[in-house]
Amino acid sequence: MTNHDLSLTLETSDQWIRQRTGIMRRRIAAEDQSASTLAIPAGAAAIKEAGLVPEAVGLVIVASISPDQIMPATASRVAYALGAENAGAVDLSAGCSGFIYALAMATGLVESGIQEHVLVVGAEAISRILDWEDRSTAVLFGDAAGAVVVSATYGPNRILGLDMGNDGSGADLLQIPAGGSRLPATHATVDDGLHYLKMNGREVYRFATRVVPRSAAQILEHCGFSTSEVDLMVPHQANTRIIQAVARRLGIAWERVFTNLDEYGNTSCASIPLCLMEARARGLVYQGCRILLLGFGAGLSWGSCLLRWGDPVGVTTI
Ligand code: ACO
Repeated sequence: MTNHDLSLTLETSDQWIRQRTGIMRRRIAAEDQSASTLAIPAGAAAIKEAGLVPEAVGLVIVASISPDQIMPATASRVAYALGAENAGAVDLSAGCSGFIYALAMATGLVESGIQEHVLVVGAEAISRILDWEDRSTAVLFGDAAGAVVVSATYGPNRILGLDMGNDGSGADLLQIPAGGSRLPATHATVDDGLHYLKMNGREVYRFATRVVPRSAAQILEHCGFSTSEVDLMVPHQANTRIIQAVARRLGIAWERVFTNLDEYGNTSCASIPLCLMEARARGLVYQGCRILLLGFGAGLSWGSCLLRWGDPVGVTTI
């Protein structure tokens, strides 16, 4: 769906969307698709690339702000469809930071020896929770899924450090007001559009540009690396201006920042794995490469991860 397509039904323009966000187009899931049906092929591809069979996976974590249902977990359908019959399955809700949080959980389980291989999927059918008459949100988001496998290793390529934070005073700034136990679904909540994503964009913008560089600097200091030693920064793809501000504050050159939100919009929990996949296909993610992942979103939550990429044995980077 292009910006021009949106301008046919909303009072907006290609110019406004490009200038304010950097987005040119986004993908919209077909009617018979949902977060799980997008997650399944992403998960299958990650397991295959890792050189594993689905039975080797011990846990499937799906991070999403647009899960199939409140219950059961989307991960349950995903694990079943993948044939991951020895795996537990759980969903994770941490706004657009969900992928980093899921990575953190997977890392902890693998490092503690509880699991050997954890499949982490970020999957979104955000188009289903958008108010298509609200131009302040409808133009921003897109549907996608991406996945990685976190595996035990004794080599130097590993998750080097993680930082997570949350400021619940901003919980109302980015939310779906109804549909949970706080405000259960009624005719009135449907009539009032309270099952759609609501956002105070300006405040979220301020929060992201303040908190994300701080978290990134903390994790780099904790791991003993300088920004010049970061080979690739992969931020959550919310807005080009936010990403530019974060890179500027950290002193990371634009050539070392990966973005693809022009093509996909903000795909929430899917944005970071989607970037990793594309960056890897372009040769920007390689054995030993130091990558800084930065997430932020509803909560208001944030999470940073520094890792040294390790290709699975037998798989070469394109
Ligand atoms: N087309 C045209 N005009 C628009 C549109 C649109 N799609 N949307 C808003 N406007 C108008 C507004 O009505 C306003 O008009 P006014 O000045 O007459 O009142 C004007 O444009 C400026 O609106 P702002 O909201 O101030 O625009 P801003 O420059 O802040 O950009 C944006 C808005 C893009 C949403 C920005 O604030 C932003 O990116 N915020 C961060 C959002 C974000 O990161 N969200 C994801 C978090 S991740 C998660 O957990 C889901």
